[in-house]
Amino acid sequence: MSVDAAESCLPLIDDDPSLLVGRRRLPTRYFLAPLAGYTHLAFRRVIRDLGGVGLATTDLVQATTLLSGRRQALELVATHPDDRPLSVQVFSGRIDHLVEAAVWLEDHGYEGVDINMGCPMAKVNSRGGGARLMCDSDGACEMVSQVVRAVSLPVSVKMRLGWDREQLTAPALAREFEQVGAAAITVHGRTRAQGFSGSVDLEGIRATVEAVEAIPVVGNGDVRSPGDAFAMRRTTGCDAVAIGRGAMLDPWIFARIAAAVAANPADGNPSADQQVDFLVRHFRLMAQQHGEYSCQLFRKFAGWYGAKLGIPEDLEDRLRRFESFAAFDTIVEEIRQRHGTRQTDVATALIKVPNGPVERW
Ligand SMILES: Cc1cc2nc3c(=O)[nH]c(=O)nc-3n(C[C@H](O)[C@H](O)[C@H](O)COP(=O)(O)O)c2cc1C
Repeated sequence: MSVDAAESCLPLIDDDPSLLVGRRRLPTRYFLAPLAGYTHLAFRRVIRDLGGVGLATTDLVQATTLLSGRRQALELVATHPDDRPLSVQVFSGRIDHLVEAAVWLEDHGYEGVDINMGCPMAKVNSRGGGARLMCDSDGACEMVSQVVRAVSLPVSVKMRLGWDREQLTAPALAREFEQVGAAAITVHGRTRAQGFSGSVDLEGIRATVEAVEAIPVVGNGDVRSPGDAFAMRRTTGCDAVAIGRGAMLDPWIFARIAAAVAANPADGNPSADQQVDFLVRHFRLMAQQHGEYSCQLFRKFAGWYGAKLGIPEDLEDRLRRFESFAAFDTIVEEIRQRHGTRQTDVATALIKVPNGPVERW
């Protein structure tokens, strides 16, 4: 690494470590990005316990399923007093549905609405939602404008750099969204055509930062360490950073960032016992919400914890198949005795991203 590159990773000391988004003051500038299927209520609560999370956002919820009161949608917006500050992310191709969903959220006491304009999945794009909206700037602006006018909550937008390299619409859209009252913009530095391939284009994020007058721009993509987060802010000038897969890879990342900013980096290193405690609390919080069904829901995290804690494969396998709280307790006792006996590297690949040609997602 060159001296310049090394310096850009040094902790960034802000005059004001908190950030005002609309009328909402967020305690830090480092946010948990939504990862559908992973950043559910239990995970948000357990990671918040570690400290340093400025804002979390729910998985994307389709406006109509929320309005029809479908159980899955209500589970996605389930929250808890410890789960603050929180924004709920909604999507729809229909402005009227999105407006109604935003009003519903305000009436139910939520504190922020985030409109998804970044999702690359065909099932979202074919309904006119997600990244597809970035191709219709008038429609997208009208959508943001109507949602802003319908509620007094801060309304933010999360998007990609554009549909593809030929249509890098994020800067122009961000400016227009600001003019119609958006409180903040999050930009993932890839196009929809890129999916999750290639690397994040920091110049594209920078162009978006430069396009707005005053609202915060949140940079996003490929941040895996506190150094990456500081480098993203230095290189792009963004006001905050949203971290998704990096937070799954290392849930302590927000605590590490806070410790680095406070010039106390040693604070961020968890012991193996603390990591097992994290696993246990994650499961218990899931159980509070889902009861015995959490035994099934937790299975998807078996590979991740197995690799993270270096637990032997037979134990990881049992973590994938247990059916009762008592079985969970027994497995945890063994994990406490046998973790670290397998050499593993926690690969980002454990967080599944869609693959194959993006047109078929
Ligand atoms: C499995 C998975 C689920 C995702 N779900 C959402 C979502 O519900 N809403 C959203 O705006 N972005 C979603 N994203 C995109 C992330 O929020 C983020 O923009 C992207 O992963 C890049 O940031 P990262 O490198 O920090 O993960 C998802 C990404 C992944 C891998």
